[in-house]
Amino acid sequence: MSQQENLPFEERYYQPPYKALYRESMEYPEKFWRKMAQELEWFSPYEKVLNDSNAPFFRWFEGGKINVTYNSLDRHLKERGNKVALIWENEKGENRSISYLQLYNEVNKFAYALQQLGVKKGDRAVIYLPLMPELPIAMLALARIGAIHSVVFSGFSVQALVDRINDAKAKLVITTTHTLRRGKRVELKGIVDQAVEQTPSVEKVLVIKRDEEPKINEKRDVIYQELTRRMPYKKVEPEETSATDPLFILYTSGTTGKPKGIFHLHGGYGLWTYLTTKWVFDLRDNDVFFNTADIGWITGHSYIVYGPLQNGATTLMYEGVPDYPSPDRWWELVEKYGVTVFYTSPTAIRTLMRYGEEWVKNHDLSNLRILGSVGEPINPEAWRWYFKNVGGSQLPIVDTWWQTETGGIMISATPGLGNYMLKPSANGLPLPGVDADVINEEGLPAKAREKGYIVVKRPWPGMLAGVWNDPDRYIKTYWSKFQGLYYPGDYAVKDEDGFFYILGRADEVLKIAGHRIGTREIEDILISHPAVAESAVIGVPDPVRGEVAVAAVVLKQGHSPNEQLKKELEDYVKKNLGAIVVFKGIYFVTKLPKTRSGKIMRRLVRAVISGQNLGDTSTLEDEASVEELKKAIEEFTKEIREQQKP
Ligand code: PRX
Repeated sequence: MSQQENLPFEERYYQPPYKALYRESMEYPEKFWRKMAQELEWFSPYEKVLNDSNAPFFRWFEGGKINVTYNSLDRHLKERGNKVALIWENEKGENRSISYLQLYNEVNKFAYALQQLGVKKGDRAVIYLPLMPELPIAMLALARIGAIHSVVFSGFSVQALVDRINDAKAKLVITTTHTLRRGKRVELKGIVDQAVEQTPSVEKVLVIKRDEEPKINEKRDVIYQELTRRMPYKKVEPEETSATDPLFILYTSGTTGKPKGIFHLHGGYGLWTYLTTKWVFDLRDNDVFFNTADIGWITGHSYIVYGPLQNGATTLMYEGVPDYPSPDRWWELVEKYGVTVFYTSPTAIRTLMRYGEEWVKNHDLSNLRILGSVGEPINPEAWRWYFKNVGGSQLPIVDTWWQTETGGIMISATPGLGNYMLKPSANGLPLPGVDADVINEEGLPAKAREKGYIVVKRPWPGMLAGVWNDPDRYIKTYWSKFQGLYYPGDYAVKDEDGFFYILGRADEVLKIAGHRIGTREIEDILISHPAVAESAVIGVPDPVRGEVAVAAVVLKQGHSPNEQLKKELEDYVKKNLGAIVVFKGIYFVTKLPKTRSGKIMRRLVRAVISGQNLGDTSTLEDEASVEELKKAIEEFTKEIREQQKP
């Protein structure tokens, strides 16, 4: 071959847009955010991209007027009026497909009904609904008139609902009679009836009728269908809310007993969910996006409702569990609706893994092109199963790290920006605009592979605006551990390539099946039981749920430990807080390990229960407490072994 032959070598190579966009966001943030914000429609322009004069109360796009529902509905009508916005299906296979135009009409109708009930801009309404179409409709209707929604997950029970309604001082509660779960009715209105006995701010309860007449309290309850039956169809123009007006409050658990009302705003949150949906899930016009989360959690807010709708996508919501009536329920839906992007949790994957791969194999999943995971770290075994069986060993799995507080995804692969790089069990690289790092206890950057805390070093539009009614708690929880840095409360490591691996919570927060629950919240319920004097709750690893709860309980005088009481306490927690609290065990002891100043040493409880080294016990008041706990656990383990003997 001659030397001169003209072979097509090229010095330059094509870089996916991710890298350039990331660099631009870090080097020229003002220009970057201005460009990004132009993708949404504004009623009037903002004065400043970021007001940081009152840090850490950062305000994005101050002075601008924007309403997230205008960007989710109105602006699609011309080009996508007849496109399906929302697909809903339940366990029984009943379903609805709602176009953008229909959704717009439903939201207008609901908004008008809210106005008839006297709901105004800035008012709070609590929504306690299962995954039925009226849930996103109610959220959008409230947002449309500038009212603030607070969705309470319908798996929560009376006490959780009471606390949230009271903290938000909601004047309206929106609910329905029931939902179906594994073929059984779960009553919701009954829980609301009990809750509103203890919530003085509530003026009305709006009830969505399902198949039967709800039992109502004439003075307080209004049936939605009756209210709207005689109502004229009226368009309700979206309130021209400020970018910095609150859109919603969503309660989440922290280290104290009282859940925190994380609140997000129309401008920054709207933009962040719009952008991250595009960057991570790469939604295009023919996509059908199935996010299996519940809208009662942030994942559903951002990636069933606001992200997909602002992108004009088709979003599928399923009211039911993955393994009922059979363990291929989700794959049936993926096949039936030609789902292209599928987003779920590691717990769900581990649950389905147990039934075997045949359930997946029997379905044609060939429309899928992106898979996602969220809520807890995904173990390599579950990752591989998901990759191989659902993704046919071909599809990217975006392992998206984020939180209620961050509003949207922070760390993940970004197929929408051409970045498909994956490593099993790594979350990937920060999204454009996210200045994340791992630092050690001293606040110094951790070395590659050194475990530390993840932090975010500058504000981003989707960040929480604060903790409702509690600015001090906002500062203390998120901005005090490391001066000037946002502290999410997770352990993490970074590798040599800059990939982040989130390792789990660094605080007293449990992740049971991906559901975030504070140990203190469970303890507070336990000690409200007449037999309980004190309790310490910790999390222990669980092969399916990731983590479950264990409680050490001290009984009041006159009560003696027995199996029946154990069961009663478990049921009591479920009844008051919700069935999402799953216990591995409850141990009875006569005292808990405490410091001399009386603080429960949870660290020791955890060490004893998981059989680890106790570490420093110099502040422990009474060694005997530890010995007693050890004995209780040994007995319990022995009992279990006895029970398991053939
Ligand atoms: O510990 C992290 C874990 O979930 C926490 C946030 O919980 P929540 O506010 O309920 O939001 C869950 C859905 C965004 C985080 O602090 N977490 C979330 N996603 C991941 C994760 N841990 C590991 N990998 C993830 N992909």
